[in-house]
Amino acid sequence: MVDQLGHERLVARRICEAIKEQIRQGVFGAGDRLPSTRGLASEWGVSRTTVTAAYGQLAAEGYLDTRQGARTTVAHGLAASGPVSGQAKPEVIRLSAYGRRLAHLPRPLPWKGGPVVDFRYGDLSTSDFPTLSWKRAIGRAILRRPARLQYGDPAGSVELRTALAGYLWRARGLRCEPNQIVIVNGSQQGLDLSARLLLDPGDRIIVENPTYPAARQSFIALGAVPVPVDVDGDGLRTDELPDARLAYVTPSHQFPLGSVMSAARRRQLISWAHHADAYIIEDDYDGEYRYDVAPVPALRALDGGERVVYVGTVSKTLSPTLRIGYLVAPTALAQTLAQAKRLADRHAPSLEQDALTDLIENGAYERHVRNARRKNRGRRAALLGALGGAFGDDVSIAGADAGLHVVAWLHRLPRSREQELLVQAADAGLGIYSVSDLYHQDAEEHRPDVVGLVIGYASLSEREIGQGVRRLAQVVSALRAA
Ligand SMILES: Cc1ncc(COP(=O)(O)O)c(C=O)c1O
Repeated sequence: MVDQLGHERLVARRICEAIKEQIRQGVFGAGDRLPSTRGLASEWGVSRTTVTAAYGQLAAEGYLDTRQGARTTVAHGLAASGPVSGQAKPEVIRLSAYGRRLAHLPRPLPWKGGPVVDFRYGDLSTSDFPTLSWKRAIGRAILRRPARLQYGDPAGSVELRTALAGYLWRARGLRCEPNQIVIVNGSQQGLDLSARLLLDPGDRIIVENPTYPAARQSFIALGAVPVPVDVDGDGLRTDELPDARLAYVTPSHQFPLGSVMSAARRRQLISWAHHADAYIIEDDYDGEYRYDVAPVPALRALDGGERVVYVGTVSKTLSPTLRIGYLVAPTALAQTLAQAKRLADRHAPSLEQDALTDLIENGAYERHVRNARRKNRGRRAALLGALGGAFGDDVSIAGADAGLHVVAWLHRLPRSREQELLVQAADAGLGIYSVSDLYHQDAEEHRPDVVGLVIGYASLSEREIGQGVRRLAQVVSALRAA
């Protein structure tokens, strides 16, 4: 386990390496201004002191000019001669504009492993996976032995698309034809391909504030400009939607705050899209999980499918490791999406598509979803009970009606203490994740001023959840006493 100082040094070193690489790749040229320490600290989820230390180290190595009072810039003559201390000449890769934008985005911190209880959102428990049904379905798919091993339809197998059309109608109230569906490698690829087809560099895209960072980063990498719009208990605020080409929303369970977009707001959003000649990407990442409330049909079901690209995934129902997702789009757009999919990677893996078709057709998929919902209902009850017991009125919970995570606001801990909390929790063997990183950087005034944690529970047992929350309470009370 690392102490606080050790952790800060580790992150500072990672920042140094990332910036050196960006200089080598030509993302930053001689004389270019580096991001502000505040901006970078927020992107990396660390304190400004850590970023200042990283900049100091880079200046000492000759990579940067840090003059008092002026913004830090890349040292001159670097690309030609390498850093002052440098042995090897830095390799300069001439990247495209897309490549430069991509290289500029923060990379996820490498997986450190090790927390005893990890509340990381997005992971599922291995014990929930329907191993036997999946094994049988894969076995049957292998035994079918086609006459030759040939490339499949870029849109995905017609059998899977037909099975999904039936599933989406039963589970999400969404009527569509198989030719409106494109099978993708997880929602992430679906978001990326949709944005490529609907946005040009410089185009504006409405994103919820806070939002899912990997989606926002895809849009930024394409050169689009995310325009943050606040959310409240009824989802995205649609009263004054700005001009944009596209809106990216999570209406069934806002990520991360968990509100459900009200019927009135859904109608307003769709009418905005018609008037603005814009499209909506509906990310239905965990729509299968609803607990004490009636299921809400997909936004696309309301619109008749003209303006909405629906994105679904099996990452929360089966496993994020399978990398299977699906898009439902207006027919003409679905055809172009299939073209984009063909050029990206031909098509999703055929064997897994066949196995999933089998599970859906024989009812095992929906049985499994019901089973997973029951188990997660139990985990969620354990989490809410433990949080209430350990924190009482000092905590309020958002987004617990649905999904596989909640947001816990710790009223009595100001956001200024967030970094300390994360480091001390890591020291206590706890993986916890703050909500503040998911807010738009330029909308600082909208960030809450107390610590909020995104707590994923789908990978943990009820016992581990209880144990984790008790540890968290100990860390918080030690911090408040300090
Ligand atoms: C809001 C949201 N959208 C999309 C995804 C990505 O899902 P996939 O694994 O299908 O790419 C996640 C993953 O956690 C998510 O939280």
